[in-house]
Amino acid sequence: MFTRLQQKWKVGAGQLALILCTFALGGSGTGFVAKKIMNALSVQADWLWAVIYIVLVTLLWPLSVLLVSIPFGQFRFFSRYIRKMGAKLGLLSLKPAEITAAEPVHLAIFASGTGSNARAITEHFRNHPVVRVSLLVSNRPSAGLKALSEETGIPLLSIEKERFTNGDGYIHELIEKKTDWLILAGFLWKVPAPLVQAYRHHILNIHPALLPRFGGEGMYGARVHQAVLAAGERQSGITIHQVDEVYDHGEPVFQTQCPVLEGDTVDSLSRRVQELEHRHYPVVIEKMVMAGMN
Ligand code: GRF
Repeated sequence: MFTRLQQKWKVGAGQLALILCTFALGGSGTGFVAKKIMNALSVQADWLWAVIYIVLVTLLWPLSVLLVSIPFGQFRFFSRYIRKMGAKLGLLSLKPAEITAAEPVHLAIFASGTGSNARAITEHFRNHPVVRVSLLVSNRPSAGLKALSEETGIPLLSIEKERFTNGDGYIHELIEKKTDWLILAGFLWKVPAPLVQAYRHHILNIHPALLPRFGGEGMYGARVHQAVLAAGERQSGITIHQVDEVYDHGEPVFQTQCPVLEGDTVDSLSRRVQELEHRHYPVVIEKMVMAGMN
């Protein structure tokens, strides 16, 4: 739970402790002052007492945590936190400058193939006001991925199976890069359960066919297109989906089709599908990320 909060608020363990102390003291202070005021008002009717108390707590809480946040050095965090809450409740509207001036949303792209999708995504977000590709992750960095890392300066993290699958899932490296979303683009290993839990609803994958058909363990690359051709399908396409604990199983967020033509080979079909991937994946990622900010 603490790891999840660190990742959500993009803070280190020390700052998280200060934030939690501020919440605790600010909350107790609110209750204490509200009770004193209620005693002074000596309201009789129970329902009126409850209504006034709720209104008081709602008004006092932001003031109280802001005051407490000052000695804890967390005023900046809490003033932004309260403005965001106000915006969520429709009481305030954040100016575009306030949104863009806030910490960017960081993506980590996981790729084990040629890295063509990683490149398309990285190019899409170059100079983006809000979203930043901050990390490339691979168990088998291809020449394409290495070149992308060198050209863009985005660090490339090489991972090994035992630590990823049965160890900590490299969560500390992800947190260090303030990663908000994991973007799988040709990554073949199953994401381990603790990482899925830490990033629930913040992991996307792309599959080069129309799930739920032609997916599951072992269905990747040429095998997918071979299966589509062998089944005599007239349509194939792409599926972008949330990632859960099961291969190719999370909720689909986008699908689009392309025809399977007479005489198609694995190569010709995969090129057609790949063209869809490069066109749509970056745009869908952007929509999901921006929706997650509101
Ligand atoms: C893509 O076809 C994607 O759908 C699948 O893996 C492939 C990766 O290709 N998950 P590339 O390495 O991005 O070229």
